[in-house]
Amino acid sequence: MLRPPYTKYSRLHIYYLDQRNLPPINDPDLIGIWIEDDTAILFFHQAKEELVRCLCRDTGASIVYQADLDYQDWEAGVQITSFATKTLRVRPIWEPQGNLELLQPGRTEILLDPSVIFGSGFHATTRLCLETLELLLLESGMRINSVLDLGTGTGLLAVAAAKLGVKRVTALDNNPLAVEVAKRNVELNNCADRVEVRQFDLMGELPDMNYDMGYDLVITNLYKGLLIRLFTDSGFWHPGLYMVSGFIPGMEGDLLAALPADRIQMLHRANSEQWRLWLLQYKARGQVA
Ligand SMILES: C[S@@+](CC[C@H](N)C(=O)[O-])C[C@H]1O[C@@H](n2cnc3c(N)ncnc32)[C@H](O)[C@@H]1O
Repeated sequence: MLRPPYTKYSRLHIYYLDQRNLPPINDPDLIGIWIEDDTAILFFHQAKEELVRCLCRDTGASIVYQADLDYQDWEAGVQITSFATKTLRVRPIWEPQGNLELLQPGRTEILLDPSVIFGSGFHATTRLCLETLELLLLESGMRINSVLDLGTGTGLLAVAAAKLGVKRVTALDNNPLAVEVAKRNVELNNCADRVEVRQFDLMGELPDMNYDMGYDLVITNLYKGLLIRLFTDSGFWHPGLYMVSGFIPGMEGDLLAALPADRIQMLHRANSEQWRLWLLQYKARGQVA
C-alpha cells in the first residue's frame, strides 16, 4: 500500500521467497507481502538486496525469483488512472483530483489504492461486475441489502456495493495483502460500518452462506477451478442472486455442468473482450416451476 513518503507507485522491486513465515519487515520502502501457498512475494519501492539477503540468512529462505519492473507493466501495461461508469467515478489515491471531466452530478466517487492487488477496475471482469452491480442496485428494483464478495482483491466491488446503498457487505480473500489493501480502501471510503473484510480460504470450508439471514447477492469473480469447487458444494447455494465472472467462452461448458441446473435461472449475461459474466438466480425449492 502507499505510505508516506510515497505518493505513487513507480518501480516495483519484487523478491519471491520459498517460505511464507517471515518476521515482520519494518522498512519504509515495503509495499506489501503477498502470501501464496508456502511462498512469500515481497514488493518494495526500492531495491532491497541487503535486507532480503539478511532475511534469507536468518530464516533459511531462498530467493526463487526476483524482478524489478514498472508499476504499469505489473498492471498488464495499463496506466491506472481515474475512470467512470454510469454512476461511479473511481479515482486512484495518487491523483489529487482525478479526471475532472468524469465528475458529473449524480456520480459517486470511490477513492482507491489498488497497490499490487487485482481489482484496479481496469480488468474487463472487474468492470463487468461493477456495471452489473450498478444495474442491479440502481435500476432493477430488486431488494439487495446484503452482499458477499468472494475473492474481493482490492475491495473495489465491496466498496462500490456499500457506496451504492447496500447495508451489509462481507468481503473475503485468502491473500493477506489483498485483505490489508481492501481494508484500507474501505477506510478511505468511510464505509467500515457497512463492509467487513476478512481473510478466508475458499478452497477450505465455505463461509457461512446463511450468516444473518443469508446474502441477497453473492459476487464471485474467480478462476474456473475455484468456481467449480463452489458450484459443486450444495452449501454454497442459498436462495438469491449470484454474479459470476472470471471465465472465458471455452470454460462455459464445464461451469454450466457444475451448476445445480434444476434450481438456477440465468437472468443476464454480459461480455467484454473475451471475458464473460453471468447473473444467476438460485431459487428456493417451492419457487422452481
Ligand atoms: C480475479 S480476482 C478478483 C478481485 C476483485 N473481486 C475484482 O473483481 O476485481 C480474484 C481474487 O480471488 C482471490 N482468491 C483466489 N483464490 C482464493 C481462495 N482460495 N480463497 C479466497 N480468495 C481467493 C485472489 O486473491 C484475488 O484477489
